[in-house]
Amino acid sequence: MRTIIEPFRIKAIEPIRMTTRDERRGLLEAAAWNLFGLRSNDVMIDLLTDSGTSAMSAEQWAAVMRGDESYAGSPSYYRFESAVRELMPFRHVIPTHQGRAAEAILFSIVGGKGKVFPSNTHFDTTRGNIEATGATAIDLVIAEGNDPQSLYPFKGNIDLDRLENLLRSAANQVPLVMLTVTNNAGGGQPVSLENIRSAAAVSHRYGKPLFIDGCRFAENAWFIKCRESGQASRTVPEIVRDMFAVADGMTMSAKKDAFANIGGWLAVNDDRLAASARNRLILTEGFPTYGGLSGRDLEAIAVGLHEIVDEQYLRYRVRTNEYIGEKLIALGVPIVRPVGGHAVFVDARGLLPHIPPLRYPGQALAVALYEVGGIRSCEIGTVMFGLKPDGTEQPADMDLVRLAMPRRVYTQSHADYVVEVFEEIVRTRDSLTGLRIKSQPPQLRHFTAQFELVP
Ligand code: F0G
Repeated sequence: MRTIIEPFRIKAIEPIRMTTRDERRGLLEAAAWNLFGLRSNDVMIDLLTDSGTSAMSAEQWAAVMRGDESYAGSPSYYRFESAVRELMPFRHVIPTHQGRAAEAILFSIVGGKGKVFPSNTHFDTTRGNIEATGATAIDLVIAEGNDPQSLYPFKGNIDLDRLENLLRSAANQVPLVMLTVTNNAGGGQPVSLENIRSAAAVSHRYGKPLFIDGCRFAENAWFIKCRESGQASRTVPEIVRDMFAVADGMTMSAKKDAFANIGGWLAVNDDRLAASARNRLILTEGFPTYGGLSGRDLEAIAVGLHEIVDEQYLRYRVRTNEYIGEKLIALGVPIVRPVGGHAVFVDARGLLPHIPPLRYPGQALAVALYEVGGIRSCEIGTVMFGLKPDGTEQPADMDLVRLAMPRRVYTQSHADYVVEVFEEIVRTRDSLTGLRIKSQPPQLRHFTAQFELVP
């Protein structure tokens, strides 16, 4: 059969409130053309993020009832710990309320002025937590990773020569090396097993631990199975175990590849680092057997980790985004290729060449997707990255719009609808206008900036 069906049935539903184009135009105006200002029940298809937005399974909800809320030593913690260690066999597993809390704890211990942290590409919260300690975050993704049209199968790989050069010249400044799998900021592109192993070998040769930001580890493992030679006949859990076997620690947001609505963890092998991390955890998150989560959250994560490595699910998951991507390409919409694991990234600058970068083509496209079809997406371009610390503004490298797919939430007809909305946008693209910023905060302006249309 050609159709890869959703490998689940729907048991509980959330109604979508249908809105009209006129109504949405009014809502956009009231939100000052910033999609973060919308109420989510005014959104028909919400592709703002795949984080914390998964639909939980019947088994996860059943496990929620088993949650034990003891302050110390809850059996829910031990079920969580063993589910993590079955896939990622680290000695210490430290729960946190989400991924950035794990990052904050890690970098508050190993960061500081003069320190340098290389990665393929740091996600914004990782970079933010590194920089908050006075340290420097460096992105060393391979050249193909910065070329939206390159079809290289592992565009998330770290450039091993540049990593080695950095370690050769500045090893004493580098406390650890990171790898983000998949590479979210680079379009959800995977890292090959070979690259993970080589990055570990280079790091270890200089005595440096390798940490994996494992948010989308299962999608990454699926890409390894499908694309890397010698991996096709192996199971996803085997590949996952290999990915983490060469690493010395990891940070994780369970809001992605654990099907949970909240949660995360820091895992390490080093006993001393674990002891410091647990001390900080008690200060900022909670006791080490719950770390900012309730027992029921830990149970949901434990079950989610079993479900996420299911091959039927992963085949459907990756296909959903590919399906939208193929149809957008057929419409002539430029996108980042190959399509990543969790999202389709649209090249808004390429689609709307009449809108200059400082009139925010990404924002213009995101606004149009909402006005035309009630779809919420996220600008990843000059609005997000264009404001420099000295207050000046520069075009970002690319003006992208991310359509991030929540897990197990939308069906193929929702995907077809998204494509139809693009059809309408392509037809009317010359009439779309850019925007000007009326007011903005000094940092992270994309969350709260107020815009007006430039006729
Ligand atoms: N690392 C990566 C690669 C991420 O994508 C995220 C979150 C985090 C760390 C932080 O995790 O949100 O649990 O604190 N990404 C979300 C997104 C917000 O929309 O891409 P968190």
